[in-house]
Amino acid sequence: MHRWKPSTSSQRRDAKPSRRHWVVPSLLLLLAAVPALGGVYRALHLSFGGEVTAANQRFFDSPTAVTLHGISCALFAFLGAFQFSAGPRRKPKRHRIRGALFMPSALVAAITGLWMEAFQELPAHDGDLLSLFRVVFGLGMIACTLLGIRALLRREFAQHGAWMMRTYAIGMGAGTQVVMFILWALFMGPISLTERAYLMGASWAINVIFVEWILIRKNRRTPISLKTLKPIS
Ligand code: HEM
Repeated sequence: MHRWKPSTSSQRRDAKPSRRHWVVPSLLLLLAAVPALGGVYRALHLSFGGEVTAANQRFFDSPTAVTLHGISCALFAFLGAFQFSAGPRRKPKRHRIRGALFMPSALVAAITGLWMEAFQELPAHDGDLLSLFRVVFGLGMIACTLLGIRALLRREFAQHGAWMMRTYAIGMGAGTQVVMFILWALFMGPISLTERAYLMGASWAINVIFVEWILIRKNRRTPISLKTLKPIS
């Protein structure tokens, strides 16, 4: 019969990173691509004085919030893709540097998003239901980030990881929404105002439920994950 001893953090760090560990970051980068590039495009368009049209006038009316939203969302989406997988996390220093940028980005993304929802003129296809979803998930994103920071300060690393995963799940609702819109357009045709709001709400909900499912599965393996145990003989 085997006896088990936990592997040390240096043993885990020295272990060769496998390709498997890059699957999750790659998929997350794919999901993040459209909203992150959209945010960068909007920020650059405003900064370099792009053409003002009836369709984009509202962005020029509040350039600071829109630029901050674009940049913080891109940083959030890009950095977050590397924070949750064992491969990239093997380098704790890099994890800390990315995290120091990721957490403020999450807060700025959610706060500027809520600010735009409250004060910016929004297009006609953004109805009341979508506004409600944005407020609920925007506040949820702020709450999860603050709870994640609090857990970090208390050195409760497992809780910190769980809250940051929730934050990323809510923020990446923007990526899931792109997938949902494409699927809907392919199989169902044009999207009505109500369908748009439900698709966006469903995208946030899918991400949140998915992450809770991952966390429940992880918790079943605690207090010490069998993956970090090695046989002595
Ligand atoms: C839950 C937090 C968030 C809220 C409440 C929020 C809210 C908003 C609002 C109200 C707008 C303006 C929509 C319009 O005028 O058409 C907007 C635009 C945008 N958001 Fe967010 N947002 C959030 C998070 C994110 C994240 C995390 C990303 C990227 C990963 C993102 C990407 C974008 C982009 C690219 C635009 C610009 C759309 C365009 O240029 O037409 N948002 N957001």
